[in-house]
Amino acid sequence: MAMHCTLITGASMGIGEAFAREFARRGNNLILVARSAERLHTLAEELREKRRVEVLVCTADLTRSSAPDEVHQFCRRNRLKVELLINAAGLSFAGGFSTIPREKLEELMAVNMLALARLTRLFSADMTSEGSGGIINIASLAGLQGLPGLGLYSATKSFVITLTEALHEELRPSGVKVVAVCPGFIETGFFSVAGHDPSSILLPISDPSVVVRAAVRGLMKNRMRVYPTLIDSLLAFAERLAPREISVRLAAFLSGVWGK
Ligand SMILES: NC(=O)c1ccc[n+]([C@@H]2O[C@H](COP(=O)([O-])OP(=O)(O)OC[C@H]3O[C@@H](n4cnc5c(N)ncnc54)[C@H](OP(=O)(O)O)[C@@H]3O)[C@@H](O)[C@H]2O)c1
Repeated sequence: MAMHCTLITGASMGIGEAFAREFARRGNNLILVARSAERLHTLAEELREKRRVEVLVCTADLTRSSAPDEVHQFCRRNRLKVELLINAAGLSFAGGFSTIPREKLEELMAVNMLALARLTRLFSADMTSEGSGGIINIASLAGLQGLPGLGLYSATKSFVITLTEALHEELRPSGVKVVAVCPGFIETGFFSVAGHDPSSILLPISDPSVVVRAAVRGLMKNRMRVYPTLIDSLLAFAERLAPREISVRLAAFLSGVWGK
């Protein structure tokens, strides 16, 4: 018989790791996906011991176009039925658009968009045929408008929001829930990878557990979009009301990436 599991990409640290800890606490078996094998194995061992759940590690570099198929095949080979897919792997780059190295531009688009879309396509097909399942896509407040200084990142997150909204409706009749989570700033290693100085950010920086709690609530209530904090909700509301130029400038100012 197949083993029911939650698959988490980006599980080696930050928000993905926080999801792994929470779902292990809830008794879910896990499949952890990222590149850092050692970190994944250490986490897997800890969760198996502490929570008495099955935790499998599937190391994958999601910039490789074959990686999503390999992750899907790993699940097939090990008779794992993914009931919940959490697409948390992602990265950013802070700085002027013309300064982004070509490889970084491609890496960002491959992980944030292509891998997410491919994994969602593969696992949503399985879930649809089962008539149940859930997908949590980690987007960002940055995806609500273009963000000068984080232009490519904000564009990839707009993609995540738009795709997720479409799938939320498209898959609803089949019993599969799909939610986009749009956090503001979260305390993880994300900023150092992006070259974004966190001391320049004018908004509060929250703990990853805030994202996890909001995502779980959103999935249970079958929401299309979730904003983890009150400030995130207020900023999203303001973004809808304000003229585009104002919301773009305000978001850039609050993020501390441009226009200072
Ligand atoms: N932190 C924030 O302020 C914030 C705000 C809004 C949204 N988000 C979103 O939240 C998600 C998680 O970010 P985080 O804050 O937790 O960042 P993080 O601590 O830097 O974690 C990023 C995760 O993505 C994985 N990853 C990156 N490149 C990968 C690749 N090529 N192949 C496979 N895995 C890869 C990393 O694992 P390996 O390096 O081991 O591969 C790591 O597990 C991202 O989608 C991000 O855009 C973050």
